[in-house]
Amino acid sequence: MSLGRTRSVALTGLEGALVDVEADIAQGLPHFAVSGLPDTACLQSTDRIKAGTSNSGVPLPQRRITVNLSPASIPKSGTAFDLPIAVAVLVAARVLPTGLAEEVVHLGELGLDGTIRPVRGVLPSVLAAAAQGARDVVVPLGNAAEAALVPGVRVHAMPDLATLCQRYVTAKNGRLPVVDVPAARPTDCGEAARKDLADVVGQPEARMALELAAAGGHHLFLMGPPGAGKTMLAERLVSVLPRLDRQQSLDVLAVRSLLGALPDALTVETTPPFVAPHHSASTAAIVGGGSGMIRPGAISQAHHGVLFLDEAPEFRVNVLQALRQPLESGEVVVARARSSIRFPARFQLVMAANPCPCGLGFGKGADCSCRPQARRAYAGKLSGPLLDRVDLQVLMPAINRASLGQDPGEASAAVAARVAAARGLQAQRWAGLPWSLNGQAAGSALRRGRWRLPRAVTVDLDRALDRGQITLRGYDRVLRLTCTAIWRNYP
Ligand SMILES: Nc1ncnc2c1ncn2[C@@H]1O[C@H](COP(=O)(O)OP(=O)(O)OP(=O)(O)O)[C@@H](O)[C@H]1O
Ligand SMILES: [Mg+2]
Ligand SMILES: [Zn+2]
Repeated sequence: MSLGRTRSVALTGLEGALVDVEADIAQGLPHFAVSGLPDTACLQSTDRIKAGTSNSGVPLPQRRITVNLSPASIPKSGTAFDLPIAVAVLVAARVLPTGLAEEVVHLGELGLDGTIRPVRGVLPSVLAAAAQGARDVVVPLGNAAEAALVPGVRVHAMPDLATLCQRYVTAKNGRLPVVDVPAARPTDCGEAARKDLADVVGQPEARMALELAAAGGHHLFLMGPPGAGKTMLAERLVSVLPRLDRQQSLDVLAVRSLLGALPDALTVETTPPFVAPHHSASTAAIVGGGSGMIRPGAISQAHHGVLFLDEAPEFRVNVLQALRQPLESGEVVVARARSSIRFPARFQLVMAANPCPCGLGFGKGADCSCRPQARRAYAGKLSGPLLDRVDLQVLMPAINRASLGQDPGEASAAVAARVAAARGLQAQRWAGLPWSLNGQAAGSALRRGRWRLPRAVTVDLDRALDRGQITLRGYDRVLRLTCTAIWRNYP
């Protein structure tokens, strides 16, 4: 009997757990089995490893090979276990030195020719490995840039198995030699960041609403006829939001890494993400899910940023309903038979809609051709519990010639400076509490105690609540928005 051992990471959503990969080679008929809750892709690693090793000049012994992935309670999915399994077996076969690979974390898919192919989720895996004390990680060359973003680990980016074997065989002082991988630099080059509020003509109310939404982290609903500038305004929200800090940028990139959506020339964007899914998108595409590998949806891609639902009433009702829980909790739980997976989803929601299916709505002079029933059904899709979570709802009029003559609008930079100041104040106000923005403040904190608004301010609101004209959630919503508006000295 001879044993080989190394490590890898099993991802559940974005959470990673270190996995011990053990290989045993025993006398007996040639056989190669993997146990420890592997999925189909992981089980099929044995075929890839047989071909990959023999084409790299290190064929597997014709013996009985058993591999175990532990802890066995965590599901192991995908092809990233190819490399750690291959390394453990090669250690057991005494092709690679014993001991050296034991503490090293390996991630990567093996091609039949022995190349190490990029896999999804390297960034969250390496983040988890580093947090759990790993110091050396071997990753595919194609994933080197994302792995290098993680502080505190030595990244060994490998093109193929033969090169990796050579590194192990020639290692000195019990350590893999380090080759520096250049880390990506933070930039502000997101496409959305280049769009500026100065391009927007008129619409003073909607502009103010956008600024309030940015300042207090309030969800926003823009309604108006076609061509009023709804899409234009929504796209410019990220240009006035604070830049992401290092941790937030990593969170955003980790979701993209899981989706395999990181570009080769990796940049760490500091502009918050702006995600605008099409209205025909499925529930899985928006909130996460899918068959086989569970993928994060648009709401998780919009984590720390903006989710924009353009033509919101056109979205499927069950998609809109599914947004309610993440809006409340800042994360989404995708339940499966064997496990449930959590993805972060703290996003700012912006919805845009026409007042009715034809778009013209309650026009003066404009002829709306919609039947009352169609209008009701259209508006009804958004009504109720979802809109109850949207703090700000604005009606945008059509742009006329008079507003075209007005001075150009204020630029994003000026608005962003006020937003940053307002957020600074809120951070002080809510210090020590689980939220830092008015838009996320708990109702109870607004209704009683130190931050209760004076009775004189809330008298109309109190009356509406007494008469059942608004829900308590609606009541809290007005309080939240008032906090932001008063602070910013708006009328
Ligand atoms: N307030 C505005 N300031 C400057 N340009 C505007 C404004 N409103 C509309 N436009 C022009 O009209 C185009 C369409 O605007 P936008 O797509 O934002 O309209 P919309 O309200 O989203 O319409 P729809 O309901 O059809 O989606 C813009 O690309 C821009 O050129
Ligand atoms: Mg539009
Ligand atoms: Zn109409």
